[in-house]
Amino acid sequence: MYDLNCIMINLGIILFLTFSLNNCDSLNVQSLDGDWLLKAANGKYVDLKATVPGGIYTDLMNNNIIGDILYGYNDRETKWVPRLNWTYYRTFSVDEDILNQENIHLVFDGLDTFSSIYVNDEYVGESENMFLQYIFDVKKQIKLGENKIEVRFLSPIEVASQRAEEQNKLYDIPLDCPPDAYRGECHANMIRKMQASFSWDWGPAFPSVGIWKNIYIESYDESAIRYVVADVTDSPSDDSWDLNIDTYLMNNWNLTQVFNVTEQPNSYGEIVSTISFKVAKSNVNYWWPNGFGGHDLYNLRVTFADGDSSEFDSKVIRIGFRTVEIVQESIGSGLSFYFKINGIPIFMKGSNEIPIDILPERGQNKTTIKKLLKTVQNSHMNMLRVWGGGVYESDYFYDLADELGILIWQDFMFACSMYQADDIFLNNINEEVRHQVKRLSSHPSIALFAGNNENEGALADNWYGTNSNFSLYKNDYVKLYIDTIEVEFDRITHQRGIFISSSPSDGNESKKQGYVATNPGDTLFGDVHYYNYVLDPWDSNVYPVTRFASEYGYQSFPSVGSLLKATNTTDDLNINSKFMDHRQHHPGGNAEIQLLMDWNLNMPPSNGSKYYEAFIYYSQIMQAMSIKVESEHYRRFRNNLNNKGEGNTMGALYWQLNDVWLAPTWSGIDYTGKWKMLQYHTQEFFAPIIITGHINVERTLDIYIVSDLLSPVLGVTAVIRVYHWNSLEPLSTESLSIDLEAGHSHLIKSLQTDNYLNEKKCGALNDARNYCFFYLSLEKDGAKVAPDNFVFPEKLKNSHPQQAKVQIVSVENISNEGVYQITIATDKAALFVWLDTVIQGTFSDNGFLLVNSTQNIYFTSEENTTAEELSKSLTITHLLDEQYFQ
Ligand SMILES: *[C@@H]1O[C@H](CO)[C@@H](O)[C@H](O)[C@H]1NC(C)=O
Ligand SMILES: *[C@@H]1O[C@H](CO)[C@@H](O)[C@H](O)[C@H]1NC(C)=O
Ligand SMILES: *[C@@H]1O[C@H](CO)[C@@H](O)[C@H](O)[C@H]1NC(C)=O
Ligand SMILES: *[C@@H]1O[C@H](CO)[C@@H](O)[C@H](O)[C@H]1NC(C)=O
Ligand SMILES: *[C@@H]1O[C@H](CO)[C@@H](O)[C@H](O)[C@H]1NC(C)=O
Ligand SMILES: *[C@@H]1O[C@H](CO)[C@@H](O)[C@H](O)[C@H]1NC(C)=O
Ligand SMILES: *[C@@H]1O[C@H](CO)[C@@H](O)[C@H](O)[C@H]1NC(C)=O
Ligand SMILES: *[C@@H]1O[C@H](CO)[C@@H](O)[C@H](O)[C@H]1NC(C)=O
Ligand SMILES: *[C@@H]1O[C@H](CO)[C@@H](O)[C@H](O)[C@H]1NC(C)=O
Repeated sequence: MYDLNCIMINLGIILFLTFSLNNCDSLNVQSLDGDWLLKAANGKYVDLKATVPGGIYTDLMNNNIIGDILYGYNDRETKWVPRLNWTYYRTFSVDEDILNQENIHLVFDGLDTFSSIYVNDEYVGESENMFLQYIFDVKKQIKLGENKIEVRFLSPIEVASQRAEEQNKLYDIPLDCPPDAYRGECHANMIRKMQASFSWDWGPAFPSVGIWKNIYIESYDESAIRYVVADVTDSPSDDSWDLNIDTYLMNNWNLTQVFNVTEQPNSYGEIVSTISFKVAKSNVNYWWPNGFGGHDLYNLRVTFADGDSSEFDSKVIRIGFRTVEIVQESIGSGLSFYFKINGIPIFMKGSNEIPIDILPERGQNKTTIKKLLKTVQNSHMNMLRVWGGGVYESDYFYDLADELGILIWQDFMFACSMYQADDIFLNNINEEVRHQVKRLSSHPSIALFAGNNENEGALADNWYGTNSNFSLYKNDYVKLYIDTIEVEFDRITHQRGIFISSSPSDGNESKKQGYVATNPGDTLFGDVHYYNYVLDPWDSNVYPVTRFASEYGYQSFPSVGSLLKATNTTDDLNINSKFMDHRQHHPGGNAEIQLLMDWNLNMPPSNGSKYYEAFIYYSQIMQAMSIKVESEHYRRFRNNLNNKGEGNTMGALYWQLNDVWLAPTWSGIDYTGKWKMLQYHTQEFFAPIIITGHINVERTLDIYIVSDLLSPVLGVTAVIRVYHWNSLEPLSTESLSIDLEAGHSHLIKSLQTDNYLNEKKCGALNDARNYCFFYLSLEKDGAKVAPDNFVFPEKLKNSHPQQAKVQIVSVENISNEGVYQITIATDKAALFVWLDTVIQGTFSDNGFLLVNSTQNIYFTSEENTTAEELSKSLTITHLLDEQYFQ
């Protein structure tokens, strides 16, 4: 589209900047990926076959030395693995073309974590941070023909504990060890490695070791482009965008030998060329988040060449034209906290992402990432938080987020711990910030960076006993997140990036209080994490009214079919089994699930043969409904303030999107990729327009319509039906015609449920609510404009739903795209109707309230199958399914 050739820059080198739709590659490299060998430093294993990129667990599994790490109790059985030192090695050959070049580097895109590198038995360097790219000069060590490389890894557990021991001579930096229920390893906070690889309350401890990203020999005479970092800002005074581009060139080469260069590396050792120019808005399309417009991306190509235009290197990045702001201005007695994208306030709907896989090399799997992010997009989410206990995800992850319009709230990788703040640690973190911010910040999907997960809260609320010396830990906190990370972030982004110090935090108010606010979870400021394990989770009155809900959630169990991929006996699926206890890492978690279910559901008899199935299914109902109720609550408050000045909620990111193993966790998608009931409900409660009810403590039903759309919708009809539990014919149908404002939550009707249901002949005044329920729909010109919804005027366990007979009538193949039509039938209103099959795929709807005598559901298969096969494997159940009550 644009040709901006021959822009002279102050290096005395010509940078061709071609702004086009061409694709082109970056450096010329000789890959050392592929077949390697592996040995244990204690001599027990030698010459094992290994694969790079990879990791110790994958290699030991491939050598049949350990079983599938995610099966049974294999996390426990493989605890010896990261306690050994392991060495990866191979030979490779180098030709004259490489050898004759001025500079020869060995580049590791990722080393996990502590290693020393030897080429031809000579030491070339070492690593200590899995989030860095390591570049070693190997000009002296490399020779013509065959070369040998060895990467000697140290046990991360051993290093972490040595570092803790050293640190403890000065003072202890908690969290030392996780709770016993995590079955984890200690002192993850001492090392720069995926914090969750030492265990979490949703995941096992697999502290991997290995070369988890690409490794290659890079050679050149002049220089190489290391990063291209671009940002786009709006220049309000005219009709153009300001595009600012920093090109970072390799710094460890002797510029003066080759060019007449005036510019020397800056004090950070970077050689950076900065240019800015304007792009007319009329020539490009805006990048919008999912649901608000297109996600157009433009290739930006930077070419490094000399005065005669002979090209040495070039790099392409993709940029998008959009602005992001977090608006914090006075409202109520606090400050607002909401995102404006391209100047428009947008309610953020989404979830929290934990690592794609517990093994970092498997976390690069494009199939898995694509499937996950497509689900995010199809579920009407527009934001994901990449949580701070995992990894900075792969380039592919952010590329796809750019393409799909998924904004990323990017944590720096610090979570639920205090961290060191001595010079050695801070230098290491500086490198990490430099690498990751340069690598990531140009992605239009990345909305903001946040310093850490919950560490401000941990300090403020004394989670780890830091009150014993609050100022000590607070000083370390400020040194790390503010004086180091924020300063470095601001320098690289020229203060045009958005940084917040923690999540949750009070935003500007936390800053005002010296970065550790008295109450970082204050509902009047910033974002809030809220977890409830004791109150009725289907009662929206229990939920806080926040500005932005960045974490909230409930646990459930994965489906039976999924769990049977981690164990071979259904005995293990009983809630009280050793296996279920082993996999439940959240202390008291299984008892909490039971307690939370008991608020609303009558459990089937525990001596029934299908009890474990019922329990697992009921746990998913509890989770799906709870998160639905809480999410709809936040959406209703998008432009409402309560009498405490709380509200104007503009974000709902539930915990958690995905899983790293099969276990009771907060996820909506289990580790096999199968959707729990929650994920089906998410598609509906995050729809652009919803109709939703809230029953207050006086048993008044307030019916709301929430629209996230950027334009009004005129003349919609809300239909309020009342059904008696014993009939598929509504007792009453009331229609209201409304005009919807853009981006607005409308209260459209309030009714006193006892009176209303009594009038509709559900029963006596004080009893009517036990016999009926509300069914809400929204239509325009005869078509649905929101998912149907329902309100139970009384807890289900106190009311009288009837045992329905729900059946599959037929299964038909209706397309060549693997879509099957399933017709189901019922004789009474059926609750949480759940279809299941071992065939991988998703249903158009699942876990729903069925009020139609027949209904069609569509199954999209991810495997080759036939209608007959699907029909054989298909099961259907519902809340009061009689098989549970025998
Ligand atoms: C690993 O190597 C280090 C450094 O040589 C050594 O101190 C440590 O004892 C080794 N650990 C094991 C388990 O062999
Ligand atoms: C650059 O090259 C010159 C001449 O070979 C040498 O004297 C100087 O030390 C080199 N500088 C660096 C930083 O390597
Ligand atoms: C460097 O500058 C000198 C004098 O201006 C010139 O003679 C020489 O050709 C230049 N070298 C390069 C590599 O451009
Ligand atoms: C909050 O901080 C931002 C960024 O520093 C600033 O632009 C804004 O004015 C602040 N808001 C208030 C109310 O001080
Ligand atoms: C990625 O994951 C899928 C699904 O689990 C698997 O079938 C595939 O083999 C993986 N691909 C690679 C390259 O490991
Ligand atoms: C807090 O820690 C610092 C540094 O170790 C020490 O000098 C100081 O005495 C400690 N204060 C208290 C109250 O323990
Ligand atoms: C089930 O797995 C356990 C351990 O993983 C094994 O000992 C047992 O033989 C297996 N049982 C069957 C029936 O495969
Ligand atoms: C019930 O079925 C009718 C047609 O049979 C359909 O129009 C209606 O949308 C269905 N209701 C739901 C909730 O799908
Ligand atoms: C499905 O079958 C088609 C043709 O029979 C084949 O090309 C395709 O690879 C199969 N896909 C899968 C996922 O097995």
